[in-house]
Amino acid sequence: MTANSSLQADLGLQPCLFVLFGATGDLTRRKIVPALFDLSLQGLLPPGFAIISFARRDKDNATYREDLCAALREFAPHLPADGDEWREFANHITYVRSELDDAEGYERLAKHMQQIDSERNLQGNALFYLATPPENFSEIISHLGKAGLNRATNTDGWRRIVIEKPFGVDLDSARALNAELSSVFDESQIFRIDHYLGKETVQNILVLRFANSIFEPLFNKNYIDHVEITVAETLGVEGRGNYFEQSGITRDIVQNHGLQVLTLIAMEPPMALTADDIRDEKVKVLNSIRRFTPQEVSRWTVRGQYGPGTITNGHDEEVPGYRQEPGVHPRSNTETFAAFRFSIDNWRWAGVPFFVQAGKRLQKRLTEVQIYFKPAPEVLFARLSYGQLQPNKLVLRIQPDEGASLQISSKTPGPEMHIQPVQMDFRYGSAFDVPIRDAYERLIIDAMRGDASLFARNDEVEAAWQLITPILQAWHDIACPRFPNYPAGSNGPEAARELLNRGVIAHSSP
Ligand code: BG6
Repeated sequence: MTANSSLQADLGLQPCLFVLFGATGDLTRRKIVPALFDLSLQGLLPPGFAIISFARRDKDNATYREDLCAALREFAPHLPADGDEWREFANHITYVRSELDDAEGYERLAKHMQQIDSERNLQGNALFYLATPPENFSEIISHLGKAGLNRATNTDGWRRIVIEKPFGVDLDSARALNAELSSVFDESQIFRIDHYLGKETVQNILVLRFANSIFEPLFNKNYIDHVEITVAETLGVEGRGNYFEQSGITRDIVQNHGLQVLTLIAMEPPMALTADDIRDEKVKVLNSIRRFTPQEVSRWTVRGQYGPGTITNGHDEEVPGYRQEPGVHPRSNTETFAAFRFSIDNWRWAGVPFFVQAGKRLQKRLTEVQIYFKPAPEVLFARLSYGQLQPNKLVLRIQPDEGASLQISSKTPGPEMHIQPVQMDFRYGSAFDVPIRDAYERLIIDAMRGDASLFARNDEVEAAWQLITPILQAWHDIACPRFPNYPAGSNGPEAARELLNRGVIAHSSP
């Protein structure tokens, strides 16, 4: 593997072994291996880095490496899967075949880890990465503990565990998983992934707020009217019907990605940029969001499910409805769209509605935060017919077209006083001459150097479930809307627009 020793040193990367569970799964093929290979091409992997993949399927090193190479060609065609760099990288990937619940397999894993560690001088350091379906988490955690793999045998060595989402399906299951993890690993060893936090644009929310003196003084109830957070995808469930039937969009996106973005927008400045200082502030926001009563769930949430329709992704494509997707029950009531109006009951945000909506098979792929400022006083321009005075709006474009824009009112050129909104725009693409890397690259590096700032802490995950679980329960108990209620390729259910209008009006009226 290529090494860039000055960068490695800057990043504080120590030698380590990467032990991958879920080694033949979709996430490994689509995200983890491309991210690791790209890091290797940039010289950003630690010295001696090696990968051990642990999985059930009957493979040997050669066939497994060949499979990963095919995955790279399919999912990361921009990376040189056929060159010497790949062969060099793949040479340090080995495969251990075992059932996930077979104690003997973990003994073999332990021996293999020791052997590679001494060959490559890895000093006992190892990162376990759980990219399996969540139903396997418990058995893997417990076997790692029983095999003594949760602690390095030498005193300086470290062991860490990265655990993929979904982290539980409700508050009880998240608590149970946290308890299992903490019976084997210390919290400082645990890295709960929410890949949204690895996105440059999500990290930039803190920079935008706290490194610019012009925004932060305005981020409160005195100046902000309401906030809209949207995670819209054109994708459907992409062959994950079985999983999605259990999760729905609320567990899949809102409980994690949506709420993470909300906390970054709403949190107080942390004391310092340490993992715990940042996460302390995020937890306070989550705990300040008003819990819904069942009546409020009916009033302030919307559920949707897509029917058949047309998606335009360069060309028109007829797509089936959710109920026609493989693995989905033909009368499924699982939501593929959800919208919420949250209230944050703290001094900074009291009375400012936060709308969060997420959906599959919508018209456009777009994740963004729209921050609407209060209108300028109606003293000079608004009463005159010089044009429509629009409130200022700050838009943070998380993806695609990463960047931010600020809408301000401007006089149009000419002899008359006519006012029009214009945009001040910042685009990552043109401002920086470097590509934006996949979020997984940043998160893997951070886990290897032990920086948990971009990972969720136990209390943070539980606080998010504390908010979401009663909503899911109320949905279960109250009548479900008639599904499907939006065609694929549309802007989602009409009820979501009504929620927004109602929500904004309800808080603006005296
Ligand atoms: C995942 C969800 O966490 O995030 C997927 O399980 C979703 O359903 C994906 O499509 C979106 O992530 P990104 O980074 O591709 O926008």
